Amino acid sequence: MSQRGVEPHVFVILGATGDLTRRKLLPALYHLRDQGILETRNILIVGAALPEMGEEGFQLRAFEALQQAGWQNETELRAWCEECLFYQTLHEGQPQDYEALAQYIRRLERIHKMPENRVFYLALPSERVSTTMERLDQAGLLKSHGWVRVVFEKPFGHDLDSARGLNTTLHQYIDESQIYRIDHYLGKETVQNLLAFRFANPIFESLWNRERIENIQITVAEDLGMEHRGAYYQQAGAFRDMVQNHLTQLMTVIAMEVPVSFDAAAIQSEKLKVLHSIVPITQQDVVFGQYKAWQIGDQTILGYREEQGVPKDSNTETYVALKAEIHNWRWKGVPFYLRTGKRFPRKLTQIVVTFREAPTQVFRSLDPGSIPPNKLLITLQPNEGFSLCFSVKSPGRPFQLSEHALQFDYGKAFGQLPEAYETLLRDVMIGDQTLFVSAEFTETAWRLYAPLLAGEKMIHFYTAGCWGPSEADALLEKNGHRWALGW
Ligand code: BG6
Repeated sequence: MSQRGVEPHVFVILGATGDLTRRKLLPALYHLRDQGILETRNILIVGAALPEMGEEGFQLRAFEALQQAGWQNETELRAWCEECLFYQTLHEGQPQDYEALAQYIRRLERIHKMPENRVFYLALPSERVSTTMERLDQAGLLKSHGWVRVVFEKPFGHDLDSARGLNTTLHQYIDESQIYRIDHYLGKETVQNLLAFRFANPIFESLWNRERIENIQITVAEDLGMEHRGAYYQQAGAFRDMVQNHLTQLMTVIAMEVPVSFDAAAIQSEKLKVLHSIVPITQQDVVFGQYKAWQIGDQTILGYREEQGVPKDSNTETYVALKAEIHNWRWKGVPFYLRTGKRFPRKLTQIVVTFREAPTQVFRSLDPGSIPPNKLLITLQPNEGFSLCFSVKSPGRPFQLSEHALQFDYGKAFGQLPEAYETLLRDVMIGDQTLFVSAEFTETAWRLYAPLLAGEKMIHFYTAGCWGPSEADALLEKNGHRWALGW
């Protein structure tokens, strides 16, 4: 990963009045400035969107967004907004508007004596990407005497064909080294720390294989339901929304071999090898679920089919559990269980590495099953950290074992951790692609999952507020495993 500094540039947000800009991008940009990572003189932020509101309107919106995000230093906030934020109205697909945007950007670059370094952040639905790229190109914005980088949000395609189509379109205008496909999970501090944890600590590396590990589980549980995103979710479902991207990224980071160096190409190539080594996943290895209503006292939590924007007979999954097998020298015989869903009892993102049981009969007088295997719990949210669980003797008689853990709490050790978007935006600005998704990775992931998404899905219902359908427990029981949870 690069230690370069940020060069002066114009940062253009297309879709600047959307939710992502308000909740994530502007707070991340301001926080980078607040920490001294992003000097005001090195960035001009140009918002572009449909509403006619001029620079002042955009600055006011941004000011309010930053206040909502928790900053209260009014004078400084206003000064930053006035100094750094600019705005241009852009009607979707209108060539003359892109021409006006180009002139506006060039004028700003002249006035502020900026080199022609440009980031275009497409905070737009993916169906608008093609036209937007074409228009940016026609307006001459994708060629410059400096560098041009373009950032794309997920979903990156809907299936293999659409992802391929999108990549082909992008490659008509820019090359892969200019493309930053965001998976915000890769920006999370704990995910990056997985690389440090695995490759800087030989004691773990020596255990990281099929000789020592029984199974690996990745859980991304959310307590929330649709939150007004029913219409989007109806098209996506949990598989496309979470598994194809976030969970798959986590799995490849956990399973990859040691890269030859810590740079983008080396890391991405190792992750890709993991994907290529996964054997085809069959329908028997997947459980799709959907939450139904939950009545608790006089409170009702709506079922998915009652959510706004969701048809009453929807067959979209809000839950997925699956088993993947990586057939390589390190992992053959170690199942990777992935699960994610909405309306779980609580928010939890956790990787559980369960080690093999002790090959000894020394404690055979104890109840069978009373010696839990060693586990390593890697918690990404909330309370980022690691717990290494082991058995100790409980004091006194009779002889009994109990499970305890050595714990490392990331927040306690380092205080507040950077937001994923801060890390990722900074990496775009310095041109480091390590934490971004390559064209080949997205296409390979779609190729792997496409057969599971074709055709009708068998949906199993679970009550909102529980850990998913019982069929997902059965998926593990077939191999003598159970979902492990928390510490
Ligand atoms: C997004 C999904 O990519 O990730 C959302 O579209 C999901 O549905 C979110 O809620 C989860 O992200 P995090 O960082 O809160 O785990």
